[in-house]
Amino acid sequence: MRNFGLYIPTRVVFGKDTHLQVGELIKESGGHKVFVHYGGKSARESGLLDQVFDSLTEAGLSYVSLGGVRPNPRLSKVYEGIDLCKKEGVDFILAVGGGSVIDSSKAIGYGVADPEADVWEFYTHTREIHGCLPIGAVLTIAAAGSEMSDSSVITNEDGWLKRGCHSDLGRCRFAILNPRLTYTLPQYQTECGCVDILMHTMERYFVNIETMEIVDGMSEALMQTVIYNARILMSEPGNYNARAEIMWAGSLSHNGLMGCGTGGGDWACHQLAHELGGRYDVTHGAALAAIWGSWARYVYKANPERFAQFATNVFGIACDGMDFEKTALAGIEALEDFFRSIEMPTDLKELGLELSDSDIRELAFKCSYEDTRTIGVFRLNMKDMERIYQIANGNKSLLT
Ligand code: NZQ
Ligand code: ZN
Repeated sequence: MRNFGLYIPTRVVFGKDTHLQVGELIKESGGHKVFVHYGGKSARESGLLDQVFDSLTEAGLSYVSLGGVRPNPRLSKVYEGIDLCKKEGVDFILAVGGGSVIDSSKAIGYGVADPEADVWEFYTHTREIHGCLPIGAVLTIAAAGSEMSDSSVITNEDGWLKRGCHSDLGRCRFAILNPRLTYTLPQYQTECGCVDILMHTMERYFVNIETMEIVDGMSEALMQTVIYNARILMSEPGNYNARAEIMWAGSLSHNGLMGCGTGGGDWACHQLAHELGGRYDVTHGAALAAIWGSWARYVYKANPERFAQFATNVFGIACDGMDFEKTALAGIEALEDFFRSIEMPTDLKELGLELSDSDIRELAFKCSYEDTRTIGVFRLNMKDMERIYQIANGNKSLLT
């Protein structure tokens, strides 16, 4: 087991009606003037935003608000938020929404705390993060895990680059997790969220380390729970227990716990998917589903035992005659079957993209930071990235 640190400072308030406590929670966290950040329309239309405003008023807090955060949140909105926070003397940020709103909030928090910085420098890793306004979250979609994670991902419209950065300073002070707030989600978003949750554990699971039994066991249980409940939500979107399991899995999957001792994880699929999200504005979870099978088939021979363990412990596929490669492939197929069962894409065409060779080259060029880096524990270079995108684009001959 590799050395690790674990820091999870986020207070979790989970369950029905918990969002009504938001004003008191901000007061306890020391906030006075609140910047309420939200997305396109769902929080307003469901009445959640009004309930949040009422709770803030009851707690004696003043607030300003800024909506309009889009999925794959944009840098221009971050600049707008920074300006408003500075102008209004805000001392607390409340994100009401999903990963996009929370990520935008984190970027705004970093920007306000460092007036000398252009916030994009944090995302190009050319400047260190030195502070962040305190942030709380009322989560409306179980997916990104941003409510407990140290990361945020922003898209710069100039070049359509989607880039992430990490800092414990951006971790939320509290996360309000009320599964009922997710009832209004379109089914597509619910299931994209389930894929993302699954992938946050899988990215940490598919590494080249042998002994991490506690974390493996927790990860396998989490993956099974997500697979089981994602299927239930296909036919029962109002099933509270299924929503609750998925919501808690979302936070646990990305708060660091599932990565203890794994050396940090692989994250190649996330890197490949971020280029798709930045360039084509596709939903993050769907992009992951569309790329995963191609990535897995491309790399599994480097560690067939690990892929076979996944097949056996998550899907109950027997490892007959210790044939790890055969078992590994059966596990990859089982996960793709699961994706199909929740109507998620398993290649780029199903994701709705028709890509030419030059489109793919551009994606690989960007993902490899102009051919200057490799990604993941299997050290994929630009050529490998191009091949994986090609395979996901239907060119299966590259697998032979
Ligand atoms: O904007 P509104 O109208 O709210 O609609 C949103 C949006 O269209 C809708 N939605 C959210 N809650 C709803 C709802 N619709 C009805 N009822 C509700 N209760 O769902 C759509 C997606 O929302 P979004 O916030 O984009 O979803 P998600 O949580 O999946 O976040 C995706 C973003 O997070 C990043 C992704 O790359 C992507 O940009 N990630 C952030 C991570 C992190 N910070 O740790 C890790 C992840 O790997 C991921 O990269
Ligand atoms: Zn993700």
